[in-house]
Amino acid sequence: MTYDLPIRLMRLRQSKASRHLLQETRIDKSNLIMPLFISEVLSERKPIHSMPGLFQLSLNELPYEIEEISTLGLPAVILFGIPAHKDAIGSSSFSEQGIVQQAIRRIRDINPDLLIISDICFCEYTDHGHCGVLSNQRIDIDKTLDLLAKQALSHAAAGADWLAPSGSIDGMVLAIRQALEKNNFSNKAILSYTVKYASPLSGPFREAEEGAPKFGDRKSYQMNPANSNEALREAELDLQEGADLLMVKPALYYLDVIQRLKQQFPQVPIGAYQVSGEYAMIKAAASFGMQEKAVLMESILSIKRAGADFIISYFAKDIARILAET
Ligand code: PBG
Ligand code: ZN
Repeated sequence: MTYDLPIRLMRLRQSKASRHLLQETRIDKSNLIMPLFISEVLSERKPIHSMPGLFQLSLNELPYEIEEISTLGLPAVILFGIPAHKDAIGSSSFSEQGIVQQAIRRIRDINPDLLIISDICFCEYTDHGHCGVLSNQRIDIDKTLDLLAKQALSHAAAGADWLAPSGSIDGMVLAIRQALEKNNFSNKAILSYTVKYASPLSGPFREAEEGAPKFGDRKSYQMNPANSNEALREAELDLQEGADLLMVKPALYYLDVIQRLKQQFPQVPIGAYQVSGEYAMIKAAASFGMQEKAVLMESILSIKRAGADFIISYFAKDIARILAET
């Protein structure tokens, strides 16, 4: 027999304690990664106008930043270098005295426990601003793969824990994995920017990193925002090539892609990159009165709810502070 009893989902929402107890997804600072821009030409830090509140750092400023990140209890940083010298093949990226190599050694001295991830790409090191070596204005895959392996080895030798190839070059994960294995770096992990969309949401990053393409765009190597079946194919290939972790970028516009990837590969750690444009949009709306902290926390919660195991966010330090307050 059935009873005529009303179902009331509101019952469990009546107190803060009950809401908290039943919360399905939680934000934890131990899943967050803070991006840092380190410039070889600066002697002080310099504000990034397209990303209010963020700075390009000099090597001298780096220790203060690392102390702060460590005190806040964040587990990891991802490094982007701004070299003094750019050329056609991005040679500063594989120099032992390169800016990222110096930064990695400096960070290691200050906090040996911090996980150091280095972005592996060429757009910030080439004079043309594309993510690889060019022949006839197109990416030359073979030449690019050789040099990507060289760059990854150099960052690994400096002490990076995870190498994060971000150029969307076919075969980049295999080239790096083979180079690492051959050179006694088999413990270094590869975090592949597996699903990387050609998105204007990365616009503000171009100022932050001074790596805008001098001509054309990145649509011949990065993915079309309209596609998600293709994302699964990218992921499958990267896993076969030896990627240890996969990432979707940008994050909030691509929650469906994060979810599909996690469902397809539940055993693989899946990350998401809340990109420069996502940061800038929240900051801009906050300047018109939107509640910054609440909206920020909702964005991170949503990315986790979709299935992300870890998140790269320019708000990582702010989030750690907010969590400490509440
Ligand atoms: C380098 C790289 C980029 C980003 C991360 N690594 C530039 C790009 O995708 O064009 C973007 C990060 C962001 O927008 O915050 N290829
Ligand atoms: Zn690039």
